[in-house]
Amino acid sequence: MKYILANWKMHLTVAQALLLFNRLDQKIKDNQNVEIILFPPISALFTLKNHAETLKNPKKFKFGVQNIYFRDEGAYTGEISVPMVKDLAAYAIVGHSERRIYFGETDNLVAKKLQASFRHSITPVLCVGENAIDHTEGHAQKIITDQLTEDLMLLTSSEVAKLIIAYEPIWAIGTGNFADPKEAEKMIAKIREVCGDLYGKDGEKVKVLYGGSVEPDNAKAYLKLKGCDGLLVGGASLNYQMFASIVDSAVQTV
Ligand code: PGA
Repeated sequence: MKYILANWKMHLTVAQALLLFNRLDQKIKDNQNVEIILFPPISALFTLKNHAETLKNPKKFKFGVQNIYFRDEGAYTGEISVPMVKDLAAYAIVGHSERRIYFGETDNLVAKKLQASFRHSITPVLCVGENAIDHTEGHAQKIITDQLTEDLMLLTSSEVAKLIIAYEPIWAIGTGNFADPKEAEKMIAKIREVCGDLYGKDGEKVKVLYGGSVEPDNAKAYLKLKGCDGLLVGGASLNYQMFASIVDSAVQTV
């Protein structure tokens, strides 16, 4: 099974999101071996989910949220809790680098969010990755190890076994400057090794994706990597032809 995730970020009105969804539905054929997960802006999630229920196969696309808060309810203006979205979404992105950079999310907060996701049976997609300086100075593996050690701190080993981790080097996100597949393969192996060191056999079961300037032209190179379970796609997921072509590559690779 391969996982192809579409992170629409802060793009699209409800009407635009619906249009993109319909185009994707027309272009992508039903298949058993690729899990396609859409992460629309929260404002469009309810409409899309209801619309998806009317398709011949309502499970053709799965849904996720781009962010959640770790508390279940309370006076937290503007935040959305896991119980609020669990009927609409099966997945939640946690710790995306844009949240860490622009909204000051720390590893400590990420750990609480991961714990809250599992408490309500939503599968988290944890994003980790090094910045350009750490990459150039050769610190990527250490950065990833430190992030994982703190981010996974509140989870049990059986939860870690169900976790999806996206290796997203920050310098590759939205830049067109994608990671060399061989380097990505090493980082994917490192992520699995760290999870194994921390959580034993269960830790090694973690699913690992690559993300960062994925396009139709480079998708296959990542999908073929040893240990790569799929892709997290940002920019290219807003174009239905590009995204459908990436899904097609996954169908051909499994
Ligand atoms: P990108 O974004 O594909 O536009 O680089 C990936 C992501 O941030 O998840």
